[in-house]
Formats: sequence, C-alpha cells, structure tokens
Amino acid sequence: MNDPSAPPNGPDVDPISLALSHAPIRATFPPSMPYRTAFITGASSGIGRALALRLARDGVHVALSARRRDALEDLARDIERRCGKADIYPLDVSDPARVEATLRGADDDLGGIDLVVANAGVSGGQRWSGELDYEATAEVISVNVQGAVATLLALMDRMVERRRGHLVGVSSLAQYRGLPRSATYSASKAFLSTFLEGLRVDLRQAGLAVTDVRPGFVETAMTAGNTHRMPFMVQAPDAAEIIVRGIEKRSPVVAFPWQLATVVRSAALLPPSLYDRAVTRAKG
Ligand SMILES: NC(=O)c1ccc[n+]([C@@H]2O[C@H](COP(=O)([O-])OP(=O)(O)OC[C@H]3O[C@@H](n4cnc5c(N)ncnc54)[C@H](OP(=O)(O)O)[C@@H]3O)[C@@H](O)[C@H]2O)c1
Repeated sequence: MNDPSAPPNGPDVDPISLALSHAPIRATFPPSMPYRTAFITGASSGIGRALALRLARDGVHVALSARRRDALEDLARDIERRCGKADIYPLDVSDPARVEATLRGADDDLGGIDLVVANAGVSGGQRWSGELDYEATAEVISVNVQGAVATLLALMDRMVERRRGHLVGVSSLAQYRGLPRSATYSASKAFLSTFLEGLRVDLRQAGLAVTDVRPGFVETAMTAGNTHRMPFMVQAPDAAEIIVRGIEKRSPVVAFPWQLATVVRSAALLPPSLYDRAVTRAKG
C-alpha cells in the first residue's frame, strides 16, 4: 500500500490541488450531524462514496462497504488523509448471512453504529419486457431487495434496545411507476420504499428514524451507459449534500431534484390508461 501521507509529486500537480488533497475535511463546527458512526453499503463509488466523504467531513466515523476492496481502501485513505475516520468492510450484500455478520462486527468494532445506509444497488440495464427472463431479474432482486432488507435489519434488535439509530435506504424516483425497459428496477425500488415506510411507522415508538431517499438522475457509473435523456441530472457530491440535510432533519422522504420529483409525483396520480398512453407518446 502506498504511504498515504506522501504528497503526490511530478510536474503535473498544481499547488492548489496539492493543498486541497491534504486539507482537513472536518470543516463545520459545531457539527450539525447528530451521529457519531455510520455503516454505508455501496461506498466504493457514486452516491455512496460521496455520502461517505460528506459524512466524514462532519466528523462521522464511517464504515465503508462494497465488494471492491481496492476502491474502499482508496476511499478510506482519502478520508484519513483529511483527518476523518474510516474503516472498510468488504461485502457482497446478496449474501444475507454475511451482511448480518459484517454489520454486527462493525457495530462491535465502532462501539455502536448510529446510522445504517442501505445504498448498494444495481440497475440491471435497460431491457424491453418482451426479452426479459428470470435470470435477468435475479441480480436486481438479490441486491436491491434482499440486500437492502438484510442491511436494514442487521442491527434492528440492537438499535431497538438502545432506542437509538437511523435507517436510510436509497430508493429512486423510479419507484413511483413501472418505467419502460426498467420493470425489475422500478419494482425493486417500489419494494424498498414501501418497506421503509412500514419500518418508519412501526419504529417511531422505539425512537428510531427511517429515511427513504429517492434520487432522480445522478451522474455515477450507474447512469454512465444510459443513452436516453436524463433531465435535471445531479452531481454525486450535490446528491450527498441533499441526503445529509435530510438525515439531519430526520426527514421521512428525501426526493430530489425537486423538478423531476414533481413530475413523477404527478405521473403517480394518473390512472393506468392515461399513464400508459403518456409513456407511449414520450417514447415516440
Ligand atoms: N445514479 C442514479 O441516477 C440513481 C438514481 C436513483 C437511485 N440510485 C440508487 O443509488 C444507489 C447508488 O447507485 P450509484 O448511482 O451510486 O451507482 P454506482 O456508482 O454504480 O454504485 C453502486 C454501488 O453499489 C455497490 N454494489 C453493487 N452490487 C453490490 C453487491 N452485490 N454487494 C455490495 N455492493 C454492491 C457497488 O460496489 P461494488 O461494485 O464495489 O460492490 C457500488 O459501490 C443505488 O441503489 C441506485 O439504485 C441511483
């Protein structure tokens, strides 16, 4: 492993980037984030990575999880170089027994996890439903549904006993309706949003918070291959900022950007016959 304290060198490194790469990331005082520790799945890239950096900036000790160990190590080094605290927990969320063991291990290591973010997800690509088979849906269901459920439940008994904890699931604006060429993805996120709502109404009495995050298009590896229009696209650090503000406020639902959220909420009110016609017309 490279020495993380060694500055990058060579003729191409400009002094501002060099200074920023070593700047402490804990910038806000007093911190508005009420939590000390967080476990984040899907932290190796995109929204999860940006969220880990943003939480670490507020002094949260972050447990970084995903399958790619190298990417997690790079991120942990980056956070530590800026005076944040991070540990890595490589994990495939489609193995529920490992999810439970890993989160409980992290809970022991960090003296109690305050915030669990079930963010790991896959899109499964875009496929016309007439070419769909069970095989093509399996990964999406095992990661987005089973993986998210296993993550959200792994510490439930401990959080209820402590009467402390916040569960966050990263769903999508795609959960409002079955989208063309995305039946499995839309359905997986609809499951997650409904599951989170059920948890939320139950867990109020236990003092636990639950937040359902519903992003529109965010510029990440997941959207990189999309060829269709992606209106109101958001950058991952901006998405992380919006999510953190929602967590701080213990918001039940964080749907963004507001422009696209307004459109899809309106589409959710359409009767099926009108929705079907609107989708057909939009596709040309
Ligand atoms: N980007 C968008 O426009 C958008 C919009 C709405 C919702 N979302 C949701 O936001 C979440 C994050 O997506 P993203 O856009 O940031 O995409 P991304 O950059 O592709 O990140 C996906 C993350 O999930 C992890 N992951 C995938 N399969 C996994 C598995 N089996 N076990 C553990 N980790 C796994 C990946 O890490 P490894 O490959 O290292 O395992 C990666 O860290 C997803 O739930 C996605 O559905 C994204």
